[in-house]
Amino acid sequence: MATGKYLIAGNWKMNKVTGDSVQLAKEICQEAGSQTSVSVVVCPPFTSLSGVSEITKDTNIHLGAQNMCAEPSGAYTGEVSAEMLRDLLVNHVILGHSERREYYGETDEVVNRKVLAAIENNLKPIFCVGETLEQREAEQTLAIIQDQIKSGLANITSDKADSIVVAYEPVWAIGTGKTATPEMAQEVHAAIRKQLADLFGADVAGKIKILYGGSMKPENAEELLAQEDIDGGLIGGASLNAHSFGQIIEAAAKLSA
Ligand code: PGA
Repeated sequence: MATGKYLIAGNWKMNKVTGDSVQLAKEICQEAGSQTSVSVVVCPPFTSLSGVSEITKDTNIHLGAQNMCAEPSGAYTGEVSAEMLRDLLVNHVILGHSERREYYGETDEVVNRKVLAAIENNLKPIFCVGETLEQREAEQTLAIIQDQIKSGLANITSDKADSIVVAYEPVWAIGTGKTATPEMAQEVHAAIRKQLADLFGADVAGKIKILYGGSMKPENAEELLAQEDIDGGLIGGASLNAHSFGQIIEAAAKLSA
């Protein structure tokens, strides 16, 4: 970890109706709601944000959304604005997840507009980057990540950059049970840190949390989190169960002790 606390974020994706979300949030609060050594964020689907917010509001668990519109308001059918998220006490938002890029055509330019809008509205973007298997096999990983960061974080000034969280999520590792080895992940994280230092200065780059995502689970969390430039995790599947999510939080707490 670079500096500060580990950040463990759960991405629930399109799972759980409100009642089930509220139940999971209650269980996560029981597991981890009073601990202070790790920052914890849960990102339920939009429809559950209000219900989960009621549960998390007086705890140390932060609330995140999985997407957001770059526009402030108006005729954008089906979209959700930063202000609407803030109104529900949301303070983080996942942007540019590979599933958004792949299935909903989100380009680097769209993601960049969302990141800028999030920062402007005091929401911490969890900005996702990652290579496909094809790109890794063609040894394009670092070039692809570099491009995604350059475009996705364009026009952000150094004084605003420390609220950004970057999530490195190799697309081939998401939901597949395949995880990058700690060494593979560290190599990319170190390259991301260096690029962030070139963009925003070393001080700011040291404050930006870089999360690993892609089949992180209790069995592999500790060795991934122990890497120098891994500051936390963005967890999909394993965040849908309070106990396994809690075990990942515990792994981070143990490494911070
Ligand atoms: P996974 O998902 O942990 O299920 O691989 C991670 C993510 O997509 O954020």
